[in-house]
Amino acid sequence: MNHKNHMREAVDNLSDWVHKAFFSRNGDYDELTKLDVSSVRQASIRAILEIEKWIKQFGIQHRLKYLDLACGTNVPFVSNGIFSFLQEYYPNIEISYEGIDINKDITKAGKFLFPENVVSQNLLWGNAFELKNSKVAISKNTYDIIYFGLILHHATAQEIVSLGLFLSSILKQNGVIFIHDLFRPHNKPHVKRPPDRPRMITDQSLLKNIPDEPLELAVHSSSYSDWREEFRDTFTNHLKDINAPEYLRTSLTEHIISDDFPYSIFEVQAIFDALGFETNVFPFSNEDTASPLKGYIGFITARKINSKPRNHIQYPIKGYAKL
Ligand SMILES: C[S@@+](CC[C@H](N)C(=O)[O-])C[C@H]1O[C@@H](n2cnc3c(N)ncnc32)[C@H](O)[C@@H]1O
Repeated sequence: MNHKNHMREAVDNLSDWVHKAFFSRNGDYDELTKLDVSSVRQASIRAILEIEKWIKQFGIQHRLKYLDLACGTNVPFVSNGIFSFLQEYYPNIEISYEGIDINKDITKAGKFLFPENVVSQNLLWGNAFELKNSKVAISKNTYDIIYFGLILHHATAQEIVSLGLFLSSILKQNGVIFIHDLFRPHNKPHVKRPPDRPRMITDQSLLKNIPDEPLELAVHSSSYSDWREEFRDTFTNHLKDINAPEYLRTSLTEHIISDDFPYSIFEVQAIFDALGFETNVFPFSNEDTASPLKGYIGFITARKINSKPRNHIQYPIKGYAKL
């Protein structure tokens, strides 16, 4: 099989897994956000606060180029919140939107119903971690904002470094990445993704020069239990409280153990710092006590401070909070 066909097949396989796993057009994530938006609401508020700070610091632009990675196939909640805020308070700013998702339904989504300030939009099918290989036309140094919601927790640190390097090359100087994700409590040991689970990156050339374990992770003790069981139980109780149907409770909670291998917010921050970004982290532990996911979710901002991506990284990357 030639390289191109191999790549195509790899994206197809991952896409099928995502589809089956739960993110189809009528899939569980969509169902969940219909019942409960507590986690995405917090992310929207944080994103709006951060974008306003960023606009004030660097001056209002006439047009923002916005890339939404793993955007989903229904109107993306957080991005839509940002655009609605800008429409209201900064009506002169026009947004040019690109959304990329690995779910093939993205090509059927047509256009998202965004506020009028979104003057152009392009919805594309692709693997967010392998954009370098995709047909999607992504130009260097062109994006102002990249939003990345609820996907990093499936990736290994090696894959996050590879992605971060690429994102750094396509952002403008002072451009920002917003990450909203599931994070491991920093005082619990990391659970490694087993080799039989789908990889975000199958093209080994994208991982060249990045060690398998780029992070200096705390030493794992075999006496530790899997922290995700506690998270799963908290989440299951919450799903019961919001009267989520049985099938949704089962598939969401099974997914946590089989496919979620998050790093701590400080480890992901350390990766983006090592790549030459200026970062801020916002663990959602105290901001919204109503959220059952507090302690497990958070938000990171990473601003590209140099005009060129960093070409030398010191490994292992040291995290800021250890066991
Ligand atoms: C939990 S949803 C989050 C949607 C949206 N980003 C948000 O924050 O509301 C995860 C999305 O990631 C997409 N996805 C999963 N793996 C992906 C990949 N490797 N590349 C692009 N999209 C991916 C799924 O199809 C799904 O739409």
